[in-house]
Amino acid sequence: VVALRVGLLGLGTVGSGTAAILLDPSQRHPLVRELVIARAGVRSLEKQRSISLPAELLTTDLDAIVSDPNVDIVVEVLGGLEPARSLILKAIAHGKHVVTANKAAIARYGDEIFAAARAAGVYVAIEAAVGGGIPTIQPLKHALSVNRIRRVLGIVNGTTNYILTRMATEGADFAEVLADAQRLGYAEADPTADVDGLDAADKIAILAAIAFSDRVKLDDIHCEGIRQIGATDIGYAERLGFAIKLLAIAQREAGNTNDDALQVRVHPTLVPREHPLASINGVNNAIFIEGDPIGEVMLFGPGAGAGPTASAVVADLVSLVALMKTQPQGTDLHGLMSYMRQADCRI
Ligand code: HSE
Repeated sequence: VVALRVGLLGLGTVGSGTAAILLDPSQRHPLVRELVIARAGVRSLEKQRSISLPAELLTTDLDAIVSDPNVDIVVEVLGGLEPARSLILKAIAHGKHVVTANKAAIARYGDEIFAAARAAGVYVAIEAAVGGGIPTIQPLKHALSVNRIRRVLGIVNGTTNYILTRMATEGADFAEVLADAQRLGYAEADPTADVDGLDAADKIAILAAIAFSDRVKLDDIHCEGIRQIGATDIGYAERLGFAIKLLAIAQREAGNTNDDALQVRVHPTLVPREHPLASINGVNNAIFIEGDPIGEVMLFGPGAGAGPTASAVVADLVSLVALMKTQPQGTDLHGLMSYMRQADCRI
């Protein structure tokens, strides 16, 4: 039995959700049993948590986790840019695989992180970074990989969709609903990233990089959030047959044959009632993909929160265990990893 020793960086919403799955493996994929939490890095040892881990596993020394020889995989669920970026790079430099839910770090430093992973022969998995529990990265990279993608558009921020939904259905007050979204573990530590569309911009930058094999700088993404949307706007939109949704859109400019003319934007949009995206409510996300020859595909499900996001984190961990299992005894894992990188280290 290969046991993979996991070093968790962060025991907040997603970290606690991840630990909860790892501590309760019954009736899940059998490989979940082979994942053990070796260390868990936290900001404060005193804080009360929903999950209880043996005290000796907890540490505030995050650097010690990424260099610990008894850790095989680092799960980075701290969020934010630093120290997350440095810790990911240090973990890679120490030959550890990394699973991360950090869309902000991947959208900005993906090139640097994946180049470091390639050089070190390790694997960086990011399924949880976009769409919470919805499979988005893997389908785009694998099942849809031969399609010529025309457009990727969707609702990729659960907090704002939750706010807009409650404003539309109950006439709820913006600030009150935002506080609920924070309490439910949907919002970022600083919910400005949600409300102003920045979180959605990070996610669509990642999806665009995979779908179009092209990079877009975050500064080049037109980004507008939902602060300006009021009950009156929602009411008028409804009367005219539309729902207001914060959409993230990546597409080749119409009629432009220049491969570089990728247009990426985030803004509140009037979505016709009959479009499938109009009925995506609450914390759900949906990613609508138009490709050739597949036509239209929509990936739909819970886009934020502890359980759904942890589901994607642990799925990435299980994929890594499966990969190690396929390795005949005595072969070099790094050799296998460099084979994998062709397909998997690209965001
Ligand atoms: N704050 C994010 C959201 C969390 O609301 O979608 C999931 O990435």
